[in-house]
Amino acid sequence: MEPEMRFEQADGPRSRQCQQCKLSLDVAGETVGRAEVNDLTMRLAGAWVRMGGIANVVVQSQHRGKGYASRLMREAVSYMEREGYAVSILFGIPDFYHLFDYVPVMPEYNVSVNVRDTEQLAVTTTVREARQEDHAGLLDLYTRVNASRSGAVRRTRVFYEALADEVWWGHPTRILVTGEAGHPTGYMLLEGDPATLSVMDVIVPAEHVATAGASLIAWLGREALLRRWERVRLPMPPDEPLVGLLRRIGCKVETTHPANYGGMGRIVDLAVLATAIEPAIAGRIRALPVEARPGRVEFDCTDAGQAGLELGAGPALRIRLPQQQLLQLLMGYRGVEELWREHGGDDAGDLAAIRALFPAGYPHMWELDHF
Ligand SMILES: CC(C)(COP(=O)(O)OP(=O)(O)OC[C@H]1O[C@@H](n2cnc3c(N)ncnc32)[C@H](O)[C@@H]1OP(=O)(O)O)[C@@H](O)C(=O)NCCC(=O)NCCS
Repeated sequence: MEPEMRFEQADGPRSRQCQQCKLSLDVAGETVGRAEVNDLTMRLAGAWVRMGGIANVVVQSQHRGKGYASRLMREAVSYMEREGYAVSILFGIPDFYHLFDYVPVMPEYNVSVNVRDTEQLAVTTTVREARQEDHAGLLDLYTRVNASRSGAVRRTRVFYEALADEVWWGHPTRILVTGEAGHPTGYMLLEGDPATLSVMDVIVPAEHVATAGASLIAWLGREALLRRWERVRLPMPPDEPLVGLLRRIGCKVETTHPANYGGMGRIVDLAVLATAIEPAIAGRIRALPVEARPGRVEFDCTDAGQAGLELGAGPALRIRLPQQQLLQLLMGYRGVEELWREHGGDDAGDLAAIRALFPAGYPHMWELDHF
């Protein structure tokens, strides 16, 4: 019997404030496999782009090895193409999603500090539990701090409201803030389980690192000391201003680049992506010296077509890379020189101009936004 694909629209989790498309594959009236596309908005190259977050890909164990997951993934990609998505992201098992043209685009970060070393930090502002009136301020902090972070998902105030209602075996998620009521200057979000002190979000703008940042880390250190822990861990990209403070007191910064699993992505529609990032790239071009400004940026994907950004007068800048490597470049996951050595061929192009527009960085999606 021919497998039948069903598409069903549903509301995503409350905190995510998004629609979901649930794909089900039925054989003889029985659902043998499922997958989900979450309709999300993500930061990429300084712009907001529509991103399809693939989640819950599963095939019943007795039906594995029959190509059903491949069918679900191919249908999910076609669905995203029809619906006008720019890119897709997933958090994948090893050696599977490359079959559907996904490639690693976000490393894993772990910053850890010896609990003893946190005693060097002074608590200069009170650390308290967030209240309802703080939620708009928490959203503002998150959005500002992540404005140029590729991979960061757009949140709404409901995200914080929903978290405040969330419990883990009777323990509510904790949002610890510093600053006046309604005007938080930094916050740290901890998973419900008090035994783990597991930090999910730590958001402190540069101007509040010395005060809010130091106080939050000192608070975490004290809590860890009560639990007789040696180190505290923070899942933060190494270029967060707070890491500068931690370097001063001593810390360990780890970045893991999985070869073929973890935070992976693919371009869904290059033209849609180019249109979405055009205003942000125009802004980056204005920051260049006049003589270095390209008038047009041409993406020439060997396997996903072509698209151009019209940016004014000046010569064309051509970027010729396969789809996967182009996304790695745009996300800031890999630098242009490294990509060129592998994929650029003889035509080196203007690498300095490409680097100025698409610098390497630390793409990151905060753990609570994973799907
Ligand atoms: C992973 C899973 C969805 C694969 O489903 P499936 O229907 O058996 O996959 P397919 O038959 O379509 O396999 C397609 C290809 O992937 C390979 N593959 C299958 N399962 C794999 C796995 N777990 N890891 C790596 N490769 C796998 C197959 O060998 C096949 O390769 P081929 O085309 O070269 O022959 C299924 O094993 C599953 O439900 N696992 C548990 C849930 C899970 O881990 N989901 C993924 C979450 S990110």
